[in-house]
Amino acid sequence: MYGSKDRYEMCGINIPSSLPESGFLRRFKMLVKVLLASLSLNVASAWPFFPGPHPGQPHDSGRRALYIQDNDPAGNNIIAAQISDSNGKLSNPVKIPTGGKGLARLIAASQDSYVFAVNAGDHTLSVFKIDPNQPTSLQLLGKPASTKGHTPVSVAYSEALNMACALNAGDKPGVACFEVDQRRGLTPLPFFLDIAEIAPSPPPGPLAIAADIRFNPSSTALFATVVGGGALSGDLYSWPIHFGKPSNKPVEITLEGITLPFSLNFLGSDSRLFVTNPHLNSDGAALLDIAPSGQVTRLQNTTIPGQVASCWASYAPAINNLFVIDAGRPVITIVDADSGSVTSQYNYTTPVPNTGGQDTKVDRNFLYILTIPVNSNLELINSPQVLVYDVSPVQRGATPSEVQSFDIFQVAGSLPGAIGLAVYPTPRFT
Ligand SMILES: *[C@@H]1O[C@H](CO)[C@@H](O)[C@H](O)[C@H]1NC(C)=O
Ligand SMILES: *[C@@H]1O[C@H](CO)[C@@H](O)[C@H](O)[C@H]1NC(C)=O
Repeated sequence: MYGSKDRYEMCGINIPSSLPESGFLRRFKMLVKVLLASLSLNVASAWPFFPGPHPGQPHDSGRRALYIQDNDPAGNNIIAAQISDSNGKLSNPVKIPTGGKGLARLIAASQDSYVFAVNAGDHTLSVFKIDPNQPTSLQLLGKPASTKGHTPVSVAYSEALNMACALNAGDKPGVACFEVDQRRGLTPLPFFLDIAEIAPSPPPGPLAIAADIRFNPSSTALFATVVGGGALSGDLYSWPIHFGKPSNKPVEITLEGITLPFSLNFLGSDSRLFVTNPHLNSDGAALLDIAPSGQVTRLQNTTIPGQVASCWASYAPAINNLFVIDAGRPVITIVDADSGSVTSQYNYTTPVPNTGGQDTKVDRNFLYILTIPVNSNLELINSPQVLVYDVSPVQRGATPSEVQSFDIFQVAGSLPGAIGLAVYPTPRFT
């Protein structure tokens, strides 16, 4: 993969090193991803199944947590760790089975007062209830539910609609949605939102044509990124929501020049959407204006110097910056959220050259980056880690300061598919 001829498996996808002949789809092997929806205040009556508080951290409320998915094909798991209130540090990791199967190098999850995990290996979605007093304690609700397609890679949750929607990126691509009940879990809703299928020839292994799914902040539309085949531009799909249900007629917008529209981040309103493009030699990202009709205007092509695979980004509303990480190199790119322009870049160190971050989230002033040091055969050659940075210095033009390298080998083991990142609680409107 890294540096090899036929190329980067980054963002969990096979990204061609050069623009291939157009016309048919590449083998995009999607990775695991963890998204986080907004915090809701579902107060549970009792939590009989939860163990007592973790030892240590006596001055911490213990009410913040970070989640990763290990994507184990034999049985998928969420890894949860406590986040310190005071300094953002991680501690006390635990592992909780999702009840479904992962797919090597492939996942997704999201939440609210729930954590959702897509089980790409058996085409199901799991939901957990978060104990607000101890959010590393997760209770699986009901059984994993079929996503009605293949290879779910991402999930979005709207608290306002009480609806979770999983994006299938493989055969039968499209979106399945569920009502969420805090005791029974997921009830499938009676519709499936198709994504125009691009026939692969042949489909070798996991094929993914879609990447990310999000509700807009007001829950009036659902958005998904659909990758272009080779040199073709990709698409942004949006389904307007009428009377609590996504319309079966999407607005389909071709994003000129964006071959791999990947992650989506709303920047505080329904109209501003940041999309990354991890295609090698591309600009790397763009800032879009979304009209209420679903029409899209390009506000800025965000040129990320030297970008290799700008898969994931996270928005920090407090400082109005975006942090874009690169799966192929240890560089954090800081983007001004008003202009969509790069303001600075920060190099960090990883245990293996040419590896970067597999997902990222900002929680308050802390930036979390998941790094999985693998070699070209996708074998783990160092411990997977979550790197923690204090980004408050960025406000005065200084660089992020290192807080912690949190080794997750003990809980995650040697599974190179571990990926995705989510935090609880999470700010709204991203
Ligand atoms: C961004 O790039 C695309 C082509 O890749 C071009 O069509 C568009 O005009 C550019 N937009 C801006 C705002 O620069
Ligand atoms: C940061 O890393 C990139 C390669 O990833 C390199 O080209 C650049 O020189 C580095 N910058 C600094 C300041 O070390």
